Amino acid sequence: MKALVLSGGSGTRLRPFSYSMPKQLIPIANKPVLEHVLTAIRDIGVTDVGIVVGNQLRAISGALGDGSALGVRITYIPQAEPLGLAHCVAIARDFLGDDDFVMYLGDNMLPDGVADLAAEFRARRPAAQVVVHKVPDPQEFGVAEVAADGSVLRLVEKPARPRTDLALIGVYFLTPVIHEAVAAISPSARGELEITDALQWLVDRGETVRAGEYAGYWRDTGRVEDVLDCNREVLRALTRSVAADVDEASEITGPVVVEPGARVVRSRIEGPAVIGAGTLVEDSHVGPYTSVGGDCVLRDTRLDDSIVLDGASLCRVRGLYGSVIGRSAAIGTFPPPPAASTPHLPATGRHRLVVGDHTRIEVAA
Ligand code: DAU
Repeated sequence: MKALVLSGGSGTRLRPFSYSMPKQLIPIANKPVLEHVLTAIRDIGVTDVGIVVGNQLRAISGALGDGSALGVRITYIPQAEPLGLAHCVAIARDFLGDDDFVMYLGDNMLPDGVADLAAEFRARRPAAQVVVHKVPDPQEFGVAEVAADGSVLRLVEKPARPRTDLALIGVYFLTPVIHEAVAAISPSARGELEITDALQWLVDRGETVRAGEYAGYWRDTGRVEDVLDCNREVLRALTRSVAADVDEASEITGPVVVEPGARVVRSRIEGPAVIGAGTLVEDSHVGPYTSVGGDCVLRDTRLDDSIVLDGASLCRVRGLYGSVIGRSAAIGTFPPPPAASTPHLPATGRHRLVVGDHTRIEVAA
């Protein structure tokens, strides 16, 4: 079995980050979404992975390379325009050959893994097997009608009046008959070749399309709120590991990962939280559900429930929560004061910031 990961598209809902990076590289607990995806694929024993990329080939291949660090072998498949999920299957035809494959949307997070569903597909080998999940807002997704025995009766992409609450989530187990279906369908009203329509074509032809229900935590990381929620969920499963320089005046509680080369000085870190390699946390309080990337500087700052991307600096910003701070952004009072003498400053207000890469925001002292 091979894997096809879809990582093209524009990701406009994730602005401002999607201006400067593909949404599939947004870090969740300090690892890009795509890294979580590749790990999930490797965990079901699939190592031959094609990744469909749009105009962000350089950023994605820069982050993942040939995949060897993650135990997979990556072939990059360029897509000139985001013409749909089924279009991705069509352009990957040479890579896929006549093998079965798992198609995995590069912005979907299923932290509980898909091992049981993969085993079910391998055992039964229907023409196709989709993964469904109960959602409160099915009109936002592909929606399935499923018989009691798990066979799919009907699939509709983003219906105005959904007939069930079973959304198709971003994992599809497919056999080579899908190529006939993809060749037979036409673009939808939104101008895309929909995988949902290709699967419906199989159903109409009498092929067996099955649905496996995923009951664990799932998110399409298309919006900032979803990214933050997913970060919380993944951090919850963190195992404590402090491999860094933490001084006597600092206190680290709960499941906290401090990566090698980070320094924690006169600060408090309350898990679950992760502090990236090469980051300095000084006179600060990092609260629960926070991921701080690599090579950041936090001085005299208090933040919780947030994501700080690599290279960002926060200086004298007290009371940030629910925030996402872009790569190499600088926020606070500049220039930084000498090492503050009053550690663990209380929050002086609560602020939420969503700040793109390389942005500078000055805050009055
Ligand atoms: O998240 C689950 C939903 O994903 C399903 O319920 C829908 O049935 C399915 O159509 C899809 O809907 P979206 O409209 O959310 O798909 P999106 O455009 O976000 O694309 C999903 C991933 O595929 C994303 O990582 C970008 C990538 N992609 C998308 C298109 C349209 C490509 O690589 N190429 C493309 O042409």
